[in-house]
Amino acid sequence: MEIKDKVIVVTGASSGIGEAVVKLLAGKGAKLALVARSSEKIEKLAEESAGAFAIKADMSKIDEAREMIRKTHDRFGRIDVLINNAGQGYGALVEKIDIGKYRYLFDLNVLGPLVAMQTVIPIMRRQGGGTIINISSGTSQMYIPGLAAYSSTKRALNGLTLTARAELKKNNIVVSLMHPYITASDFYKNALRDRGGEGGHARDDADLPPPDSSEYVAGKILELMDSGEPESFAHDWMGK
Ligand SMILES: NC(=O)c1ccc[n+]([C@@H]2O[C@H](COP(=O)([O-])OP(=O)(O)OC[C@H]3O[C@@H](n4cnc5c(N)ncnc54)[C@H](OP(=O)(O)O)[C@@H]3O)[C@@H](O)[C@H]2O)c1
Repeated sequence: MEIKDKVIVVTGASSGIGEAVVKLLAGKGAKLALVARSSEKIEKLAEESAGAFAIKADMSKIDEAREMIRKTHDRFGRIDVLINNAGQGYGALVEKIDIGKYRYLFDLNVLGPLVAMQTVIPIMRRQGGGTIINISSGTSQMYIPGLAAYSSTKRALNGLTLTARAELKKNNIVVSLMHPYITASDFYKNALRDRGGEGGHARDDADLPPPDSSEYVAGKILELMDSGEPESFAHDWMGK
């Protein structure tokens, strides 16, 4: 995909994978909407990235998820790509999952991306097409003790994404999933956790390969924008 002048929304742009995607896309001349709650961080990043602007939004809130798409459309008059990347981890044993925290996680990891998709689909349909990439997780293919809450939200996202892909094919809207492996970012620091949960992944497993960099995952996301494949895993051995 030719990136130059494409209008691209990146949620969770203030840190980690989202920030790395923004830097990569800005370098290729995209027109970017940077979405997160940390307004200072995204405003600074927008200043450094020609053609970018910052939208403060809490993606766990339906109205704000809808509004950030509308603001992007008002600003640029079209939206070519939506990257639903904002998300958070939660480590807790099933027996101990806090229902309030799980509801929040579901709002953020599932309903936020869903509402963003629902708002952008009519825009993309009118334009004659578009690309939606939802950032899931390798853990959505696994059953890791302490990670049920998080991985189940990503599993829900997988279902919505691949079904939307089938529904929207006729409209030339390509919907895909990216599954990162363990990635060095603030994800683990930011994850919610309760007793018995790891907060993000089974980090104690000494047999695991080392984490990826956010820049590596950003590169994979760009490859996926290009290929339009249904799913991409950070590594070939994942998802098997
Ligand atoms: N790191 C990993 O090992 C890993 C592995 C698999 C999948 N993933 C997925 O990759 C995505 C990015 O994670 P990351 O590793 O880059 O983590 P991160 O460094 O913690 O970044 C998370 C991003 O999401 C935003 N965010 C969190 N809550 C939000 C809310 N309520 N509203 C709007 N934005 C919110 C944060 O911005 P603000 O705090 O400024 O709002 C931040 O920009 C997530 O969906 C995560 O589930 C990560």
